[in-house]
Amino acid sequence: MNEELQNKLKKAAAVRVADYVKDGMIVGLGSGSTVRMLVDELGRRVQEEGLQFTAVATSILTATQAKKLGIKVVDLDSVDSIDLTIDGADQVDSNFNGIKGGGGNLLWEKIVAINSKKIVWVVDESKIVDTIGAFPLAVDVIPFGSQHVLAKFNQAGFEPVIRKDQAGHVFKTDSNNIILDLHLHKITQPVELADELIKTVGVVEHGLFLNMVSEVVVGKESGPEVLVN
Ligand code: A5P
Repeated sequence: MNEELQNKLKKAAAVRVADYVKDGMIVGLGSGSTVRMLVDELGRRVQEEGLQFTAVATSILTATQAKKLGIKVVDLDSVDSIDLTIDGADQVDSNFNGIKGGGGNLLWEKIVAINSKKIVWVVDESKIVDTIGAFPLAVDVIPFGSQHVLAKFNQAGFEPVIRKDQAGHVFKTDSNNIILDLHLHKITQPVELADELIKTVGVVEHGLFLNMVSEVVVGKESGPEVLVN
């Protein structure tokens, strides 16, 4: 799928999923290019339609964008729970298992997700796959001793690569951690893998989000489609 079409499908899905946000809600806002389109649409509704809701952001970038558009953004710790979180994803399978972290925000995204009553993902149709894993799996790792985590992952055959930013420097997350991208190609046992990764000392979180979402809004050429879990 070319980038222009992909962006068109993302945009249509983002506008559709924005309808899920109602007055008075506390809404978790994910990260990434699709969520950027969603936040633009929500900002428009705040300004033009007087929509009133409170947002909790999963990245500094999303918080900055939302605030600029007049959306009220508060800290996660200042709310008891989140009514609805809308986020993007890198790949999703038919069991509603997904990979996230392409933008490096998986740690905050997962903390916000597990404190949400309902989670909805918004993706374009290129992200719906039979088996997740072709997209590199991001693992958030504490910098101290990270070469040893890298060596362990190498030994396990996970083909880890330290993520770099566009300037070629080691990428740092909003929590000042680093990202190891695992090239696993196919993840046939996601539950077992998630367990192994989280038990590795030095790993803070990984980008496997397993069966956490209630719905996925998919941007398709025929129009957005809602998959219900
Ligand atoms: C951010 O770390 C990710 O989890 C994003 O939600 C994911 O990479 C999807 O991003 P796009 O909407 O840019 O494809």
